[in-house]
Order: sequence, then structure tokens, then C-alpha cells
Amino acid sequence: MNWFDSKKCSAADAAAMINDGDVLGVSGFTLAGYPKEVPTALAARAEKLHAEGKPFKVTLFSGASTGDSCDGALARAQAVSLRMPYQSNPSLRKAINAGQIKYIDAHLGKMGYLVRTGAVPAPTVAIIEVSAILSDGRVCLSTSGGNSVTYLEMAPKIILELNTRLGDSFMGIHDTALPELPPHAKPLPIYSAGDRVGSEFVKIDPSKVIAVVETSRLDEVNPFVEPDAVSRNIGERILDFICHEESMGRLPKGMAFQSGVGKVANAVLSAMSDDSRLGTIDLYTEVIQEAVFPLLKKGKLGVASGTALTLSENAQKEFVENAAEWKKHLVLRQQEVSNSPDVIRRVGVISMNTALEADIFGNVNSSLVTGSAMMNGIGGAADFARNCYLGIFLTPSVAKDGAISSIVPYVSHVDQTDHDTMIFVTEQGLADLRGLAAEERARLIIKNCAHPDFREPLTDFLEYSLKHAKGLHMPLALERAFEMHSRFLETGKMR
Ligand code: COA
Repeated sequence: MNWFDSKKCSAADAAAMINDGDVLGVSGFTLAGYPKEVPTALAARAEKLHAEGKPFKVTLFSGASTGDSCDGALARAQAVSLRMPYQSNPSLRKAINAGQIKYIDAHLGKMGYLVRTGAVPAPTVAIIEVSAILSDGRVCLSTSGGNSVTYLEMAPKIILELNTRLGDSFMGIHDTALPELPPHAKPLPIYSAGDRVGSEFVKIDPSKVIAVVETSRLDEVNPFVEPDAVSRNIGERILDFICHEESMGRLPKGMAFQSGVGKVANAVLSAMSDDSRLGTIDLYTEVIQEAVFPLLKKGKLGVASGTALTLSENAQKEFVENAAEWKKHLVLRQQEVSNSPDVIRRVGVISMNTALEADIFGNVNSSLVTGSAMMNGIGGAADFARNCYLGIFLTPSVAKDGAISSIVPYVSHVDQTDHDTMIFVTEQGLADLRGLAAEERARLIIKNCAHPDFREPLTDFLEYSLKHAKGLHMPLALERAFEMHSRFLETGKMR
């Protein structure tokens, strides 16, 4: 008999061990490796308690976004008071934007650090999906690393969800090391995407484990969608640019790629697998998406290092069947390491992230529609954008069938500042802002990246600003900075 056999129970019994006001630290990162059974049972419990007139809400900390059976179920049950640090669930997003759930949108590379240094409360209960529990008290994490090691270490109570579907397919993938805390922290000796510096398992204190719940459910990830023409166009422009930079001697061979979330990011990876100019590719990234499969199958993937393996349901099954071979090319780290500024600088990363909108000066908004309505969050984009060797932001030039320009006079919310951005790409073209001052940047972005329908109003704004702004270092006339956004709010169109 194993030490954990006596702790096995139903999800409802485990949920009954969670109290109103608890801080839950859950596993999971961009829909990979989150607990599924206990959060669903907890949502049912909350609804029952609410119906009896009793209060029940928890604080929910994760790695990043979790699936509908966690974020969605708990949001619909009105069981969450505070959520941190990244989400993408429609029900949760609705509640956040309705002011019913407080949301703190932290850099993903910093979340574990905030918990470990006491800047935010430590979880009172960790709920972690694992793929194996060993007799000596070690566990093997499942499809993501996230902040699981931190939550397992810091929480006084642990609930494990053992995903029996995964078998031994994730053994050997994880590297569970965490950075030392300052002062005088020694660097983690990661120099290349594939370097391993820690253990594949996490040692936990079995006396803290209050429940073990079995599941065999898949991560709830939508089917992979083949890239559309606009996304493919952006992907090809980026690859042409990278090859050009290599040929100019500005980009040494051997840089690792980081690719953000979303359909355009997927398209870039797809373009890589079809491109004969690029040799074997390493990724030092946050989310390893399904678009790496073609790279794997064509023998073009060296190593992909990330914190989550986010795959559609069919791809999850395919991965388990091929894990013995494919996992030789994969490392899943804790998000403090996958997104570590220190390591990103050292490895050398070509970073590619998606903007909702960018302004003519090079500031980026990737989280807040019209400056106030939360989409998903900043994610790890800033961890990479500020510390990468070469940073690219991409976006289609228009959204909502042309009603919205993705290039605006001034962003309605700033996630990345003009100090941290370098290259912008839309399906219209590419603007390399390195070494350019504000007015030069503005002219190049308008010419190369803005949709033709919006070049004239953007130029008009720039010319007006050059006459009326208080200073000409940054020709920004405040009184007209948001005129395109205001027009959109009034009429549904930016023009
Ligand atoms: N204003 C309003 N809505 C906009 C918009 C804008 N400027 N630009 C895009 N949208 C809408 C789209 O119409 C779409 O709406 P829909 O869901 O109703 O169809 C939605 O935003 C998503 O846009 P889409 O073009 O489908 O993009 P995507 O799937 O590539 O995702 C982000 C884009 C920005 C939302 C996504 O990349 C993200 O959340 N990024 C932030 C986190 C991040 O960068 N993580 C990676 C770090 S490692």
C-alpha cells in the first residue's frame, strides 16, 4: 500500500475540505495541466452554499489561464473574489469586466516570485494536477510546469489530481528547478534551450497532502485551426526578415525562438516548419503550442523549452502515443525559469508576440480593449520583449472587419513601452524601429504597417502633433491622442 492510497477520495469530498476565504494555488498554464475535477466540484459546492444564503469565495492563483472546468466553472458559480495572474476564459472575462471579480494582471515570470517573497499571500491550499505520485513522496507534474513547485512548497495543504491518462508520458520532461531568491542569488546555469539544471520530479511533504483525486480528463483546448491568409503573410514576412538579418551579420546563428499565444503566433511556427532556409530550430518560450508538431515530425526541432505543452485534444492523444521519442526534444520548466529575464538574456531569444494595438511611436497594448475591457492579460510578453535579442510584435493591421485599426495614434493602454519594442509586422509590411527617433518611427509604422484606410488619419494626427505638441521630442498632441478610439466608441468604427 502506498502512502497516498488512504488519501484517495471523490472530488466532492476534496472540495469539502476547502473553506470560504481560502487562497488556492492551482497548477495550469494556458489551458495545460490545470486541476479539473476539484474546481468543478468546488463550483457546485459554492452554488449550494450560496443557495443556502452562505458566503463562499476563494482567491485563485494559477500559473496562467486554466480551462473551463476550473476558471469557467468557478466564475459562473461566483466563487472567485480575486484572480491572478492571467486568464482567457469567456465566463471569467465577463465577470472581470462586469466588476464582479478582482483581477491582477501580473507578469507571468514574476508571479511565483511575488508569492515566494510574500508580496502576495501564499496559497492556503495547493491543487495540483500530477501525472505520477511516487512511493517516496515525489510527484511528476503533468502538461505544464507553471508555478506548481512554488505552490506545493508554500501551501500548508495540498490536493493532488492524479491524471491517470498520462501514464509515464511526462516522466523526464520536467525540470523543476527554481531560481534562488536575492540578495546575492546565484544564476541558474542555463545557456541553451535544452540545458537542465534541476530534478524531473518535485519532492513534496506527504503529511501536507489532504486528498488525492483521480481524473482521466484531457486539457480543454480547442482544435488547432490552420492559419488564415493574413496570419500566414505575417509569418512569412517575419521569416524573410530573420534571414535578412542573418545575411547582414546582425543576427548570429543559434538564437532560440519565443512565440506568443494566439492564431498569428501559431502561423509563425507553421511558416517555420515549411521554410527550407531555416535549419534546426530551438525554442526558449513560454507556451509550446501544437504548431511545433510539424517541426518535430520533419526533424527540424532541436529542443523546445517552455512551461506548458498546450495541445488540442487529438494532439494530446498523439503526444502520449509518441512521448517516448518526442520528449527527448522537450523541457518543461517552472514559469519563473521559462520567463526568467536573466536566462532569456543569456540564451539569446528572438521574441514574437501579438499586439491588440500598437501606436505610431512603438508602444504596445495586448491586454485591454479601448483601455478598459480586459481581453486575457499581459502574459509573459514583457518578460521576453524587454530581455530578448530581437523583439517582434505582430498583429493584423485591422480588426473587426476593418472597423478597428491596430495602428493608432496612441495606445489606449500600455503593456510594452516604446523603450522595449523593436520590430513591428502586419500583413501590410514590417517596420524596424531600431535606431529611429520618435518622428521617424511614426512615419515608418504608418507607411509600412498601417492599413491603407488608416494611413491618412494617422498622418494627419502626426502632422497636427508636430505643430501643436508641447515638445517635439515626442510629437503627441494629447487633445487628439484618442480620437480614433473615441470615434469607435461612438460609431463602432475608427474612421
Ligand atoms: N481592438 C479591439 N478588439 C481587437 C483588436 C483591437 N485593436 N485587435 C483584435 N481584437 C479582437 C479580435 O477581433 C478578436 O475578437 P473575437 O475573439 O471576438 O474574434 C480578439 O481580439 C482576438 O484577436 P485575434 O486576432 O483572434 O488574435 P489572437 O488569437 O492572435 O490573440 C491576443 C491576440 C493579443 C489577444 C493574444 O495574443 C494575447 O492575449 N496576448 C497577450 C498575452 C501574450 O502576449 N502572451 C504571450 C507571451 S509569451
